[in-house]
Amino acid sequence: MSAYAPGRPIALGDLAAKKAAGEPIVMVTAYDYPGAQVAEAADVDMVLVGDSAAMTVLGYDSTVPVTVDEMIMLTKAVRRGLTRPLLVADLPFGSYEASDADAIATAQRFVKETGCDLVKIERGGTSVDRARALVAAGIPVVGHVGLTPQTATSLGGYRAQGRTAEAALAVIDSALALQDAGCALLVVEAVPSEVTAALMPLLEIPVIGIGAGSATDGQVLVFHDLLGIYDGGAAKFVKRYAELRSAMIDGVAAYADEVRSGAYPAPEHGYAMPADEAARLRELLAGR
Ligand code: KIV
Repeated sequence: MSAYAPGRPIALGDLAAKKAAGEPIVMVTAYDYPGAQVAEAADVDMVLVGDSAAMTVLGYDSTVPVTVDEMIMLTKAVRRGLTRPLLVADLPFGSYEASDADAIATAQRFVKETGCDLVKIERGGTSVDRARALVAAGIPVVGHVGLTPQTATSLGGYRAQGRTAEAALAVIDSALALQDAGCALLVVEAVPSEVTAALMPLLEIPVIGIGAGSATDGQVLVFHDLLGIYDGGAAKFVKRYAELRSAMIDGVAAYADEVRSGAYPAPEHGYAMPADEAARLRELLAGR
């Protein structure tokens, strides 16, 4: 039996119940209204409006340039498509790091304007203080450790983290500090499964993995990666469950062919005027 009743909106406590029951938590990203509806219909537990939107839907070459206004617009669209899963919004790079006041002001905008349930911030270090301040301000927070794409340059690029014992310890310490700061949930990205195995017994909050092996309490993947929509390179941990990009190209190409050949639109795609009105129109035009 599921740890929570089907049908009603998922609450934070339900995730803790899932963790306790050993039931995997399913999270996926979404960036628009139809994507949210797909996630809802697929019965996921949580939807993340990740700043991966910068690359997957806005065409930037990293997550760094995306703005608060852009993320808010996307998150509002996702909110309109969701009723049951919990909604998490990524605070973009540069919108929360400098001070607790910045973090609270940005997160409050997200909560008020988008209706998201939680916000996600990246890294340990100063982000631990930001997390604590957000929690004190009444905003549930998801931490994110391991590969943190907003600061990928300082991590040596988009590569697995925690591959030496010292580096692994740093990931574990950040995770523990974020838990201690009151984070409701943790995302762990691109770390060896040995690091996850060492981390899991130390954490009480639910942990969602992406490229962190199978020992976490749940998994998250990027919508455009798992459905094969995104044309950019995919990380090692991505598994494609569909090839929608090629299906989309085929569909648009077939439409283009039919417009060029005149096969589209056919009579059934148009509207007809009642015959008497058409006759009257001809008379009116003739009388001009
Ligand atoms: O931005 C994003 O999509 C993320 C996930 C990869 C966890 O942060």
